[in-house]
Parts: sequence; structure tokens; C-alpha cells
Amino acid sequence: MIEIKNLHVKIADEDKMILNGLNLTVKPGEVAAIMGPNGSGKSTLSYVMAGKDDYEVTEGDILLNGESILEMEPDERAAAGLFLAFQYPVEIPGVPTMNFLKAAMNSQRKAHGENELSTPEFIKTVREAAGKLDISMDMLKRSLNTGFSGGEKKRAEILQMALLEPKYCVLDETDSGLDIDALKIVSDGVNALRSPERAFMVITHYQRLLEHIIPDTVHVLYKGRIVETGGKELAQHLEANGYADIIGKAA
Ligand SMILES: Nc1ncnc2c1ncn2[C@@H]1O[C@H](COP(=O)(O)OP(=O)(O)O)[C@@H](O)[C@H]1O
Ligand SMILES: [Mg+2]
Repeated sequence: MIEIKNLHVKIADEDKMILNGLNLTVKPGEVAAIMGPNGSGKSTLSYVMAGKDDYEVTEGDILLNGESILEMEPDERAAAGLFLAFQYPVEIPGVPTMNFLKAAMNSQRKAHGENELSTPEFIKTVREAAGKLDISMDMLKRSLNTGFSGGEKKRAEILQMALLEPKYCVLDETDSGLDIDALKIVSDGVNALRSPERAFMVITHYQRLLEHIIPDTVHVLYKGRIVETGGKELAQHLEANGYADIIGKAA
């Protein structure tokens, strides 16, 4: 279970508050969509969960399975089962995607007291997972995300997620920069990972992604707080009516 309790966050070097008492619970097996207009704090939430140090939590907590993650380093959060796919995946020139994936899988296995994968085991696992996402072995030889198209970056992130099998998945604007075919591949990849043990936070500005990844719950984030919660029909309402009436009610 992901529990975000009364979370207040500001920019580390400034007084500017971005999250202002955000409350959200996502149960195992649940896909929660987080929607909201630009600038409402969606990406900030994902960065704070990742442990990026540009942000400071001034109040509140984030718990995974009842345990606070705020004092954990990013790698400890990953070992606890947290995975984040960012709106703008970082490019790592000089590190072939394959090597990155192998290191990520092995460090996770090590944290769980498991043996490292042998190279043949690793290649077999990656080949299978990559095939499902329409990722070629050639693409995996290239440096991570470097010169990848928007769609390739998103598919590479879903591949990481499929390989790491995290319990808590946070996807920030996974639909941005995707054409309709890539959107379908990425959504199918996410849907294949849905399971009773796994919780998802799918952050998106548009309803489009939610036609492919049908959420269990929909939450509207505005000015750093959840101002409305509902089922998948709430996303359809937003698509038809925009954010204005819900924001108006919250203001
Ligand atoms: N590092 C930063 N420095 C200054 N302002 C920031 C920083 N990160 C986010 N913000 C501001 O915080 C607000 C929320 O941004 P963000 O979390 O990216 O929103 P969203 O993802 O919902 O569009 C915006 O007003 C943005 O300009
Ligand atoms: Mg954003």
C-alpha cells in the first residue's frame, strides 16, 4: 500500500510551497490515476517519491507498506519496491541500455539476497520482455535514452519496470510524446503488469491514456492538494468539461 499523508513540500532553496497537504492512499492491486492541470504539482510528487534532493518535505509522510521512505536513499526506495518512470527520462551517454538494465536488476537482486543473473539468463529475460514492447536488441545496445525518440524512451522505461517487477509503480506523463501505436504498446505493457500485489500511480494530464489503462480510482491534483476523487467516470467528466468546474469548487 502507498500512503501519502498530509504531504507538504517546498523547493529546497526557496520558500515556494508546491505540495500543500496532499493525501492519497493506493491499495495493492489498484491503479490510481492522478490528473490535474499543468503546474499543479504532479511531477513534484513523483520527484519527492523518488527522493530528488531539490525538494524539501516540511510536513507529512510517504509510507510504503507502513514504512516511511522519507529518510531512505533513492536506491533503498528502489529496493523497497518503488519504481518511477519520469516525464523526461534522463539520457546517460556512454552507458549501453543493456548494461544499465543488468546493473539495475542485479543491484535489486543483491538487495533481496538473491544471486546475480548469469549473462545468458539475463539476455533471455531481456529478449523476451523487450520483444513484447517492440524493442529491438539493437536499441538496447545504444546508450541509455541517448538520442532515443520520445516513444523509445517511454518503452525503455516500461521495459525496466517489467524487468524489476516493482510493487509500487509511479508513471509520470507516460503518454506525453507518444503516437497512437506507441501509446498502445506502452499501455499494453503496463496492463500486463497489473496484479493484485502491485499498486500503480498513473500521472497524466489527459484522459487519452486512461482509455487504454483503465484506472480503478481517479484523483484530481490542484495547487498541491487532491481536490476531487472518483472512479474512472471522473476522468471522462474532465475530458468533457475540463478542469474548470472542479477547480472552481475547490477554490
Ligand atoms: N525545481 C523547481 N524550481 C522552481 N519551481 C519549481 C520547481 N519544480 C517545480 N516548480 C514549480 O512547481 C509547480 C508545480 O510543478 P510540477 O510539479 O512540474 O507540475 P505538473 O507536473 O503538475 O505540471 C509549478 O509552478 C512549477 O513551476
Ligand atoms: Mg509534470
